[in-house]
Amino acid sequence: MASLWGGRFEKEMDDIVKNFNASIFFDQRMYNEDIMGSIAHVTMLAEQGIVTHEEKNKIIEGLKDIRNKIADGEIVFNVNDEDIHMGVESRLIADIGDAGKKLHTARSRNDQCQVDVRMYLRKEEIEILNRLVYLESVILRKAEKYSESLTIGFTHIQHAQPITIGFIFMAYFQMFKRDIQRLMDAYERLNLCPLGSCALAGTTLPTNRHRTSELLGFTSPTENAMDSVSDRDYSLEFLSAASISMMHLSRWAEEFVWWNSQEFSYISIDDSYCTGSSIMPQKKNPDMAELLRGKTGRVYGDLMQLLTVMKGTPLAYNKDFQEDKESLFDAIDTWKASLQIFANMIDKTEFRLDQIQKHFSQGFLNATDIAEHFVTQNIPFREAHSIVGKMVKVCENRGCCFDDLTDEELKSIDSRISKDSLGDISIKACVDARLSFGGTSPKEVIRQIKVGQKWIEELPAFELNWGF
Ligand code: ARG
Repeated sequence: MASLWGGRFEKEMDDIVKNFNASIFFDQRMYNEDIMGSIAHVTMLAEQGIVTHEEKNKIIEGLKDIRNKIADGEIVFNVNDEDIHMGVESRLIADIGDAGKKLHTARSRNDQCQVDVRMYLRKEEIEILNRLVYLESVILRKAEKYSESLTIGFTHIQHAQPITIGFIFMAYFQMFKRDIQRLMDAYERLNLCPLGSCALAGTTLPTNRHRTSELLGFTSPTENAMDSVSDRDYSLEFLSAASISMMHLSRWAEEFVWWNSQEFSYISIDDSYCTGSSIMPQKKNPDMAELLRGKTGRVYGDLMQLLTVMKGTPLAYNKDFQEDKESLFDAIDTWKASLQIFANMIDKTEFRLDQIQKHFSQGFLNATDIAEHFVTQNIPFREAHSIVGKMVKVCENRGCCFDDLTDEELKSIDSRISKDSLGDISIKACVDARLSFGGTSPKEVIRQIKVGQKWIEELPAFELNWGF
C-alpha cells in the first residue's frame, strides 16, 4: 500500500524500514485525541471557508465512525498505517472519498502529533492530580487517627527524638502537596494549542488558530510555530514532576519496608497488599512497597531518555522526536498505578503502638528535652548539651536510663542539677511540649491537619469538561 506521502517516491519502503519508522504500535493510544483534533481542525476550516460545510460534515461523520470502530476493535492497525495520524486519515479517505483528502489542509503531522500528545497528557495529568488529592485525603485521615500516637523520630537511622505518627504523615503530606502544585503549574504551560503551526512556519491559508485552540479547550494557541513543533518541555516537565513524586513515594515505601521488618515490627500491612514466598511458608513480604521503590528507577530512566533525545536536536522537527512517546506513556502508567497502590496500602496499614513503645527506653530519646529544660533553669544551651552528654555516658556505663540516675550521680556531673531539675521527661510529656510552629506536639499536628484540609477543600476541581 502506497503511503499518503508517496508522491515523489519511485520505490516502496523496505519492510525493515517500515517497521523501524512506524510509531503506530505505541501512538494508537492517542486515537481519540487525534480524532478530536481533526474534528476541531475541520470545523475551523469550514468556518474560514477553506472547506465547505458539506465536506466538513462528511469528514466529521467519517471520523466519528472510525473512532467507534477503533473502540469496538473493528479496526486493527498494522505497520502500513505508520502512525495514528496516517492510520486515521487513510481510513477516512477510503471510507468517504474525496472530502477526506481535504482534512490535512493547513496542518502537518508535526503539529498534529503535538496536539495529540498535549491533549492526551492533559487528560492524564488531570487523573494524576485527582489521585494525588486522594492520597492526600488518606494521609489526612491517618494523620488524624494517629495524631497523638507516639513513635521514634530517626536521624541517620538512629533514635533521635520522640514524635507522633501523625507528624510523619503530615511530613509526607507536604511533599505530595508540592507534587500537586508542581503538576498544576506544569499544566498551565501544557495547556496551549500547537495545532495550525503546520510543518514549521505556519500557512498561507486563512486559518484561525485561536478558534481550534478554543474548540479543543486550550487556554490559547502557542505563540511561535517553529517552537511549537520542536518543543517537548511540557513532557519533560511532566517527567520531572513524576520523578520527584516517585522519589517521595519511594522514600516512604523504603520506610514501610523497614517498619514491616521483624526488627522494627512497627506496622502491619493488610494481607491483601502483601505477597508470600514460594518456598518459605511463614513469609509475608511488603512487595508493593518494594515495587514502588523499584518503579521509581524506571521513571527516572524515562526522564533521562527524553532529556537525552532532545539535547542535540536542531530546530525544527526531527524524527528523533517520535521517541518522545513511549517513555512518557510509561511514566504516566507507572506514576498513576503507583499512586493508587500507595494510597490503598497506607489506608490498609495499622501501626502496632505496643511494639513501637517497646523501643522507647533505648537511645535516650529525651536527651534534647532535658537539655532544653536546663536552658529554662538558666544554663546556657552549650553547657546543657555537654551535661546531658555526660549523663548519657554514665547511663551507658551503668546500663540504665536517665530516670535511674541518682541525685549524687547528677551532682557529680554538674552541681546545678538534681533529679528535680530534670522535669517531666516521659516520652509523652516531651512530645506534648514541642509546641513550636511546625513541631510534633499533637496540638501542632492537629493545626497542620486543619491547614491541610482547608488547602485540599480550596483546590479547583480537576476535570476536563469539553469534548466531541
Ligand atoms: N509519528 C511522528 C511523530 O510522532 C509524526 C510526525 C512525523 N513527521 C514527519 N515529518 N516525519 O513524531
